[in-house]
Amino acid sequence: VGDYDFVVVANRLPVDRTVDEAGESTWRRSPGGLVSALAPVMSSHSGAWVGWHGAADEELEPFDHDVFHLVPVRLSEGEVRRYYEGFSNATIWPLYHDVIAPPEFHRTWWDTYRAVNRRFAESAARSASRNATVWVQDYQLQLVPAMLRHLRPDLTIGFFDHIPFPPLEIFAQLPWRKQVLTGLLGADLLGFQRPGDAQNFRRCCDQILGVQFDGERAEVTQTPQEQHEDEENERFRRAYTNAMPNVTSRRRARKERLNRDLPTWIARATSYPISIDVEAVTEMASLASTKRRARQIREELGNPKTIYLGVDRLDYTKGIRHRLKAYGELLNDGDLTVESSAMIQVASPSRERVASYIELREQIEGMVGRLNGQFDTMSHTAIRYLHHGYPFEEMIALYLASDVLVVSSLRDGMNLVAKEFVVSHLDHTGALVLSEFTGAAEQLPDAIQINPHDIDGFKEALLYAKNMTIEEQQDRMKGMREQIFAHDVEDWSTRFLEDLSKTREDNLGPE
Ligand code: G6P
Repeated sequence: VGDYDFVVVANRLPVDRTVDEAGESTWRRSPGGLVSALAPVMSSHSGAWVGWHGAADEELEPFDHDVFHLVPVRLSEGEVRRYYEGFSNATIWPLYHDVIAPPEFHRTWWDTYRAVNRRFAESAARSASRNATVWVQDYQLQLVPAMLRHLRPDLTIGFFDHIPFPPLEIFAQLPWRKQVLTGLLGADLLGFQRPGDAQNFRRCCDQILGVQFDGERAEVTQTPQEQHEDEENERFRRAYTNAMPNVTSRRRARKERLNRDLPTWIARATSYPISIDVEAVTEMASLASTKRRARQIREELGNPKTIYLGVDRLDYTKGIRHRLKAYGELLNDGDLTVESSAMIQVASPSRERVASYIELREQIEGMVGRLNGQFDTMSHTAIRYLHHGYPFEEMIALYLASDVLVVSSLRDGMNLVAKEFVVSHLDHTGALVLSEFTGAAEQLPDAIQINPHDIDGFKEALLYAKNMTIEEQQDRMKGMREQIFAHDVEDWSTRFLEDLSKTREDNLGPE
């Protein structure tokens, strides 16, 4: 039993490493909503974060960095290939994103995924104090909830799926569909981005496992397969847990029974759409230096009338090719010119050794090259394609400099770039073109919504955004800002963690 009463388990640690000239590592807190949402929870509890530090074959001791106690998980080069690049990003990622790329099913990848999930679960079990809360994040760690429940039945376990959960007809392709569902159902509370994702999950549990939900709740019983695995767990449990104290209250008795037999528990599955750190974005957008940088970007582009912006990881789910096609046709039709409008596409490098990402990069760079070759002039470029990651301050300046943000994902769990763009425009100007296949679309009906497969509709939306009156821009922005301000990322984590402790209370029964 460890020392920490709140433990986050995620594939990645919430820090990025830079190595200076002398070879010294320094760590910086990673940008992003999840990390800033959990920082206050970490500092008000005694919190730990279990995750991978991003390098293969490197063993790091636990260390402290700002409010985080970090517990690095070691991955060998082979495990990075099979667990991270393989099962997580070439099996689950495409499967859960509407099979936009064909998922690959390899038994060796699955075996490694299981083994690595087990390592994360054991590390969390070692870090968590008695009756601690553990919050497992995302598709890389779907087996951790059940593994943890077996190792440490005293823990309160939450799981949040940051990406879509696919419909039964697609999920059923997965050869290990039963094990994945069983792994997830080890959690007391499962959170999804959209109500539809939670619904898909519940339907899969019903049809594949015969676990029926009554509304959001289902009674889950440990399967014989798990009981078998549980014998493996027994050794670990003996080594890391102490005997429960002998207390007589009914609640404690029930708790003890739960802890000893692990037979049934209630799992709840519902939606908690994630959001952004509104305060951090507002603060950055208010800085004189950010505004100055935004003006400078516009000037560097020759002060075009309209700046279109795309910001994505270079990923096939993002619909970057569709965006380039629509934009290229508008240039070709003469509806846009390189003098009057600019298109900036930030495509940050991602999962660069995975085949479908290598292929996508070639396609996109080919398209950008062709478009620029056709439309560039000595002084103007059709598409500014930037294959880099940028710091937070530069991203906010880019949002401020741009008139139209274009989000054309073919499938996207949420899309936080859309929310950041809206919040950074403090004067309520600007337009958001948003794919209806994002989680964000359900929350932002005031965006100009598109089906990115419908290239003609997409083109119309791009022109509509450019020609929108200031009044309409402000009207739409106001509606979107109200929604995001009322549901920021702190609200998201608070709601999830409150519901998690309620669900656990229900499991333990009345005092
Ligand atoms: C998505 C996933 C995250 C992941 C991120 C970056 O947002 O939901 O779990 O961390 O992409 O991908 P990477 O593979 O670099 O961690």
